[in-house]
Amino acid sequence: MTRSLRVGVIMNGVTGRMGRTQHLARSIAAIRADGGVRAGDAVIWPDPVLVGRDESRLRELAAAHGIERYSTDLTACLADPADSVYFDAQTTSRREEAVAAALRAGKHVYCEKPTAGTSAAAMGLASLAAEVGARNGVVQDKLFLPGVQKLQRVLEQGLLGRLLAVRVEFGYWVFADAVGTTQRPSWNYRQQDGGGIVLDMFCHFNYLFENLFGPVRSLACTALTHLPQRLDEQGTPYRATADDGAYAIFQLDDGVVAQVSASWAVRPFRHDLFVVQVDGEAGSATAGLQRCFVQPAATTPRFVWNPDIPLATDPRSSWAEVPELLPPVNGFRHQWELFLRHVALDEPFPWDLASAARGVGLAEVALRASAEQRWLEVPELGTGA
Ligand SMILES: NC(=O)c1ccc[n+]([C@@H]2O[C@H](COP(=O)([O-])OP(=O)(O)OC[C@H]3O[C@@H](n4cnc5c(N)ncnc54)[C@H](O)[C@@H]3O)[C@@H](O)[C@H]2O)c1
Repeated sequence: MTRSLRVGVIMNGVTGRMGRTQHLARSIAAIRADGGVRAGDAVIWPDPVLVGRDESRLRELAAAHGIERYSTDLTACLADPADSVYFDAQTTSRREEAVAAALRAGKHVYCEKPTAGTSAAAMGLASLAAEVGARNGVVQDKLFLPGVQKLQRVLEQGLLGRLLAVRVEFGYWVFADAVGTTQRPSWNYRQQDGGGIVLDMFCHFNYLFENLFGPVRSLACTALTHLPQRLDEQGTPYRATADDGAYAIFQLDDGVVAQVSASWAVRPFRHDLFVVQVDGEAGSATAGLQRCFVQPAATTPRFVWNPDIPLATDPRSSWAEVPELLPPVNGFRHQWELFLRHVALDEPFPWDLASAARGVGLAEVALRASAEQRWLEVPELGTGA
């Protein structure tokens, strides 16, 4: 007989871009449409209550996804023992206070990154979670991208040998004119509202480095505001005070060097909007969101530098694609399923508030390195326990 394990989830910030699409529609609603998360003889059934400020938008959203419960009263939701999980996808500047309130109310917490504006505050949340014994997790979706999962398999199989260097290119053109309002919220470009590409993206880079290559020991960074004026949601011009481009070099463990270029003012000519290339002594690999390609030492072509004639061989033609072994899944949904299993079945979930705090820490050091224009060590922030 199948055991049904209900998990009540308070979902805050689901009227926003990430909350509505990735977390509600493509994760929780999709899981429910498929009958829950199957785990042995059990089925985990997420039972959400949608929380926000605008009742009519919540009602509409709930109806669209066959969800009965919604509320504009977060305090009342946190006081209800029927719901054991608090999820937060609000704007970054509102997260720390709400997550702390949820932890103090005895809830387990799953939330978007960055978890707070400073590493001290982010580590404070990790410590509070440890103190109250709450299960906790933070979205680290890039790890669950099909392309990155393939890269991880390539690394685990040792195909690349000793790692030498990593190069990450992230970004695309985020229009600063009227079209821009349909791409990303305007607070992303205001430092005073928790915006900026360093705070946003270096959290992702930190967990990618930690999980794939090793922790960052030191860095140099230049962060810039390339486009000083943008249009907001009302079409009104505003001053962009946050960085929208960041160029960094990281020293990782074992002498591996990583270069990162992240920009919302770049026109990509690469195989995806996010691409990571890893060069090793025995081979190279490059991964995007979906696909991953490899070139072992044995098939590496010999190029001869001659600027006077066109290249005889397209460098891309000697790379082999890593095949799809499993049907690709949405990274956000995959991580949600693992978190629900963590809560309902006590399975491990290492992507926690402490690792998120280390990501905020990396962003903090990068912004300081940029302001001071020098190499800085990255302090070890630990686990918060
Ligand atoms: N994991 C990822 O790849 C990824 C990508 C983009 C954004 N994010 C993160 O997700 C979070 C949300 O980003 P977004 O792009 O969805 O932003 P958004 O502006 O589209 O949505 C923000 C949400 O917060 C709510 N909110 C804002 N101000 C509020 C207030 N005063 N009171 C109550 N609720 C309020 C909004 O109603 C909305 O539901 C951010 O922290 C961002 O860094 C993560």
